Order: sequence, then C-alpha cells, then structure tokens
Amino acid sequence: MPDRGVVVHITGARPNFPKAAPVIAGLTALGVEQLLVHTGQHYDDRLSRVFFDELGLPDPDLNLGVGSGSHAVQTAAVMVGLEQVFVEREPALVVVYGDVNSTVAAALVAAKLLIPVAHVEAGLRSFDRTMPEEVNRRLTDQLSDLLFVTSPDAIGHLAREGLAQERIHFVGNPMIDTLLAHLDAFDPELAAAAWLPAGVGGAGQYLVATLHRPANVDDPAAVRELVSVLHKAAERLPVVIPLHPRGRAALEAAGLSTSSGLIVTDPLPYTAFMGLVRGAAAVITDSGGVQEETTVLGVPCLTMRPNTERPVTITHGTNQLVTVDGVLPVLDQVLAAAPAPRPAPVGSRPPLWDGAAGPRIAAIIAGYLEAR
Ligand code: UD1
Repeated sequence: MPDRGVVVHITGARPNFPKAAPVIAGLTALGVEQLLVHTGQHYDDRLSRVFFDELGLPDPDLNLGVGSGSHAVQTAAVMVGLEQVFVEREPALVVVYGDVNSTVAAALVAAKLLIPVAHVEAGLRSFDRTMPEEVNRRLTDQLSDLLFVTSPDAIGHLAREGLAQERIHFVGNPMIDTLLAHLDAFDPELAAAAWLPAGVGGAGQYLVATLHRPANVDDPAAVRELVSVLHKAAERLPVVIPLHPRGRAALEAAGLSTSSGLIVTDPLPYTAFMGLVRGAAAVITDSGGVQEETTVLGVPCLTMRPNTERPVTITHGTNQLVTVDGVLPVLDQVLAAAPAPRPAPVGSRPPLWDGAAGPRIAAIIAGYLEAR
C-alpha cells in the first residue's frame, strides 16, 4: 500500500458531524490513516457528544476546547490551536466541512503551512454578506485544493470566482448519506409520543420550528414578531421547538415558553430530531441542513430567510422562503394541500443525493494522495 500520509478532519459545530461521518467511514474502508480534530466550537453534550455516539463517529483524537466568543476570538483560538497540531502532525490533507468558523479557520492555517485543503460542501452561495457563513464559504473555497460540491449550481459559483475546474468534484451530499443510513430509526410516532402532550396531535398533526440565526434572533423587536407568529401557528397545530442555545434567552424574553400549543425543548439528539421532522405536517426553520433533510424526507419546509444558499431544495425539494409577515398564509396553503409522498421518491431527489457521497469523496481523496 502506498504511504498516503495522514488525513486530518476538522469538525467543530453540530452541522459538521453528519457531514464528516460518511467521509471518515469511506476513508476508513480504503485504509487511509486519519486524525479527527474537534475544535470545541460546540461543547454542549447536546450539540456535540450525542452526535458522536449516534452517528458512530470515532472519538476525536484531539479536542482544542476553544468554546464560544466573538467571531475574531473564536476563529483566532481555532487557528492558534490548529497551527500547533498541523506543525506536529504534518497532515497530507486537511478536510473541512460546511461553513462554520472552525471551517475557515482550519483552511487558512493549512493554506499558510502549504498543506492541501479539501472542502466538503463547497460552492454554496447565499450572496448575502450579512451572514457570517457566507464569508466563511467564500474564503474557504479560495483556500481549497479539492472542492466537493453537493449540487450543480455550486460548480458555476466556483467557476465564476476563478477556481480551476479540475479542483471541483460534484459528489452529492454526505449529510444525506447519514440521513438515508439512519432513516429506519426516524420514528414519527415515537417522536410525537415523546414530545406532544397526551391526546394532542400525533404523527402528521404537529409542526416543528428551529430558529437560531442572528438575523432572526438578535433584534428584540424582530424576535417579538417571530414569537407572535409562532403563537399563531400553534393555533393551527401544536408546534415543537427544539431551541439552540443561541437565541434561547432572546426568544424566552419575548414570551416563548411551553404554553398553549407551543412545546419548547432543549436541542434534541439526531434520530429524535429527525423522527420529529419526518412526522411533522411542516417545518419552520432558518437552518441550512434542515432545508436539505426535509427535501429528502418530503416534508414541507418554510425557511424564514430572505435567501438560501441551497436553491436545489426549492427546485427539487419541498422548501419555500418565507418572511415573518408571510409565513402564516403559506403555512395555511401547505396544510390545505394534499400531502406529498414521504420520503421523497428517489427519482425526484436532487442529483446524487443517493447515500453514496462519502465513498465518492473518499475515492477522490485517496486518488489525490496517491498522485502526490
Ligand atoms: C454555528 C455556526 C452556524 C450553524 C450553527 C449550528 C458559525 C459562524 N456559525 O452557530 O453556521 O448554523 O453553529 O448550530 O460558525 N453555545 C452554547 N453551547 C455550545 C455552543 C454555543 O451555549 O456548545 C452558545 C453560546 O452562547 C455561544 C452561541 O451559542 O456564544 C453561539 O455559538 P457559536 O458556535 O459561536 O455559533 P452558533 O450560533 O452555534
């Protein structure tokens, strides 16, 4: 076997874990030596530990424990920690995931040390520079040698930003690998029984909402409007709201609490959350990942944002963009419409969202390492 060197994976925040799991498994199957680093950006067990347990991820070899802070403080702490790791371990390749602060920090450190970078979920663009993730995406892609894209639109974005065609690989969506691998464990009846009060709704008779983005939860006046809309949605069907720690205080200060049709919970483990989503009449969210997961599950998704970096979830999926003023009429339309098949039939899913993105990425990485 050729000496391909060690591949170092950088994970830090909740959405990274379901993306990394299939890539790590694919490389393990090819016998590639790997090191898993957790930056510690997310440190709550409910945002981190439970995902490692459920997704069968190996324990991180290193945890930098950077924790929370302003963008500069957090990004800088990840950079300082990773520089030492990369100098000591001399990775053959650093793999980064998604668009969180840990992603761009790792890519920048690796590039300065002349270590090649692979970006999983490259090329997504909201064209909204007020989102910190958009800044992270653009910079990470510029610094990456291997750009793994989940949808064809991403290829055009990267080409327009001057990135060479031979770096770009359309491989599908590894987060959907994770979803399809666990589909049988997503039990809507169990989720409804766990989270809805006895006698109130069952599978298909409740809504799920998740909201944590700065644009939705940082301005107190906007938060009050949002909470008022959630109360009105709860007059239609009970709404289960697993609350991300970010924004929790603001939402609660604006009157969000378990009452009259609203069920507020802590963040949920992966299978419990996906079970809940699978059985929801509709989901109201500002998450990126949930737009993709509802697309494959065939669950209507109302995205509370002015834009999305994942347009394929609108053209091929169940996603619609909504405003806080417009969400209730759209919700009423969705609830009145005939339900679509669940999960979405294979033929109507976005191309290559087929459960095999991890092995594709692993094969390209192995070939890249052998050619060096
Ligand atoms: C990060 C990502 C965002 C992603 C989200 C998913 C960036 C810029 N943002 O946002 O793209 O959608 O993860 O969860 O990287 N906190 C805790 N416990 C934790 C982690 C955070 O209580 O384990 C609280 C702290 O108050 C912290 C705040 O959440 O200040 C924000 O955490 P941070 O990691 O900076 O960003 P997220 O909002 O989680």
